[in-house]
Amino acid sequence: MDSLRPELIDFHGVSMSHYFTDNWENVQNFQARPDDILIATYPKAGTTWVSYILDMLYFGQTANERLTSIPIYDRVPFLEICLPSMDTGKDQADKLTTSPRLIKTHFPVQFVPKSFWEQNCRVVYVARNAKDNLVSYYHFNRMNNVQPVPGDWSTFFQSFMEGKMVFGSWYDHVNGWWKKKQAHSKLHYMFYEDMIEDTGREIDKLCSFLGLSPSVEEKEKVAGGAQFDNMKKNSMANYSTLPVMDFKISPFMRKGKVGDWKSHFTVAQNEEFDEDYKKKMKDTTLKFRNEI
Ligand code: A3P
Repeated sequence: MDSLRPELIDFHGVSMSHYFTDNWENVQNFQARPDDILIATYPKAGTTWVSYILDMLYFGQTANERLTSIPIYDRVPFLEICLPSMDTGKDQADKLTTSPRLIKTHFPVQFVPKSFWEQNCRVVYVARNAKDNLVSYYHFNRMNNVQPVPGDWSTFFQSFMEGKMVFGSWYDHVNGWWKKKQAHSKLHYMFYEDMIEDTGREIDKLCSFLGLSPSVEEKEKVAGGAQFDNMKKNSMANYSTLPVMDFKISPFMRKGKVGDWKSHFTVAQNEEFDEDYKKKMKDTTLKFRNEI
């Protein structure tokens, strides 16, 4: 499996792995439809959680078989993925028969195929505080054999601050999408920490953005199904069906918490990180919560 692990490459100024650039031309030419919904995130910000919620909101009532037999990564294709002996994400998205189509991307905003903007699609962006995002990404790279070798914790910690991660700098990603929100009114920018604090409230906001009005019972069903413990034991949501991931090293549904960074960062690392963070985030109005 180790032979699958890619090197980081510089792609149009962003660190990437070839698994997400090999299909570049086709992905750039993807034809979005006006009712497509794009779920965009930096890796490990809560993509699967929000994908699962959206999928349940749209299809939870009508399509029981979908929930029990199709893994979330097939229900919500990952647009730019291109792995050996698998359909590309772009082909999977083309083959979707649902309406709307739910499509996932980790691209920084400037890489998103232009048809999504031309078609004025709805976009849901989820952001997570940098410290927890970094910790989650570290464990993910340890267990996922199609991610670069993470190295030890302190190496990974430095690389994160330098933006040397697949999909580039966290700082550029969250800020790039935040800026886009000013220009594209159909972009709902949400935070992992808010979801943890009050999932029901965030589902309400999502529904109002999407123009959905589920009943109280439906909403409760969605919120219940999307609870961490329920998703963790749901083989259609927890990625246990994907052989490139080694759950013996770390499970995909790992902790699901705000503030786990405290059990990883040393005091010195925390000071270094905060200092660097202030510089990188000095020009933005974007605010994160490292604890709740
Ligand atoms: P941790 O590694 O901190 O546990 P993504 O889906 O973008 O890859 O993000 C994965 C992260 O979201 C993991 O974080 C995972 O545990 C967390 N997550 C997934 N489903 C969740 C849920 N229902 N509630 C809380 N966190 C969830």
